Amino acid sequence: MKVLVSVIMGSRSDWGVMEHAIKTLESLDIAHDVRILSAHRTPDALAAYMAAAEGNGTEVFIGAAGGAAHLAGVMAAKTTLPVLGVPMESKLQGLDSLLSTVQMPAGIPVATFAVGKAGAVNAALFSAAILAATHPAIGESLKAFRKAQSEKILADPDPRQPAPA
Ligand code: RP5
Repeated sequence: MKVLVSVIMGSRSDWGVMEHAIKTLESLDIAHDVRILSAHRTPDALAAYMAAAEGNGTEVFIGAAGGAAHLAGVMAAKTTLPVLGVPMESKLQGLDSLLSTVQMPAGIPVATFAVGKAGAVNAALFSAAILAATHPAIGESLKAFRKAQSEKILADPDPRQPAPA
């Protein structure tokens, strides 16, 4: 299956959070690839990977980094495809990562998500929303995810009762 979403994280230390993006892509049956590549530690390899991914049909990039988190911005500079940025938790509780990712100067946009796991999951879900416009099966997967999420809450509405196993 052709890879549609390429996920890049700046360090192996980001994996514990970014595996939630990968699990979400898997649950929606979206073909994806994932790499550790850094804007400052491996800049040339990052550019080469992105060019190859775009050439092979990737339609969305996700970039996750922490601290002085310029990865998603550098990625966005190398492509006109959508780049979704996920700020990692950090020594400054992710605030540095968030501001570094979200505060792009006008001209090179990065769609920035919440710090940490919520951002990882939502970046994957937003990839699905982008892809749904041209891949109807992914749109159906996304609708099914939303339906299951609603049903889970509605099936267990009383917080005084123990949660179902
Ligand atoms: C960033 O620096 C990475 O994305 C990571 O979030 C952070 C720390 O990286 P390590 O020092 O743990 O490799 O580039």
